[in-house]
Amino acid sequence: MQITYHSHSCLRLVLNDGTTLLIDPFISGNELSDLTPETVTADYVLITHGHGDHVGDLLSIAKKNAATVIGSAELASYAEHHGLKAHGMNIGGAFEFPFGTVKMVFAQHSSGLTQADGTSLYLGEPAGFVIQADGKTIYHAGDTAYFSDLKLIAEDFKVDVAFLPIGDNFTMGPNDAVKAAQAVEAEQTVPIHFNTFPVIKQDPQKFVAALAEKNLNGKVMAVGETMTV
Ligand code: NI
Ligand code: MN
Repeated sequence: MQITYHSHSCLRLVLNDGTTLLIDPFISGNELSDLTPETVTADYVLITHGHGDHVGDLLSIAKKNAATVIGSAELASYAEHHGLKAHGMNIGGAFEFPFGTVKMVFAQHSSGLTQADGTSLYLGEPAGFVIQADGKTIYHAGDTAYFSDLKLIAEDFKVDVAFLPIGDNFTMGPNDAVKAAQAVEAEQTVPIHFNTFPVIKQDPQKFVAALAEKNLNGKVMAVGETMTV
């Protein structure tokens, strides 16, 4: 498969058979994004949690592409209410899709979509995804704090590439993300969720250097950069 990083938490996976998975499409209002909601294509749109910088352009993209939305049960209801196809899941559950298996795993965070009146629409518990397709295992951590149960991912999976937030303030920062990378034991760790806003400004190269000190393989992906896994 090919994985392209589109800034913040947004990834686009193109599987060997051409199936396309878009994760957390925060494009409008994201100055770092290299995508345009009108042209990006996806067969499935996966959403880790209900915050605006993850739900992003979900509604317009999923509608335009007739894509299936994958997320929490509450997020799926929200998508269906907006006329979209959706597959709701919950923490600890895995499902075999035509393209491969997705397991929804814990993230320590919150999950509400801010409404025009300032209230929050509850969209289920925040999550990460373990995606198995093309014989590879990808872990997208979503927005999470460091917590010891991240070790459970390494118990169950041999992760090829882990995408971990390093921005701090809203998620774990670089020091905790190194501990998370040690827990997950992925072949390769890629930092996400940084530099989009002033409060999450980080030096990803410094993070990768800190990983190297722990004998872990890290890689900074530039916005728009594609890796073949
Ligand atoms: Ni969040
Ligand atoms: Mn976020």
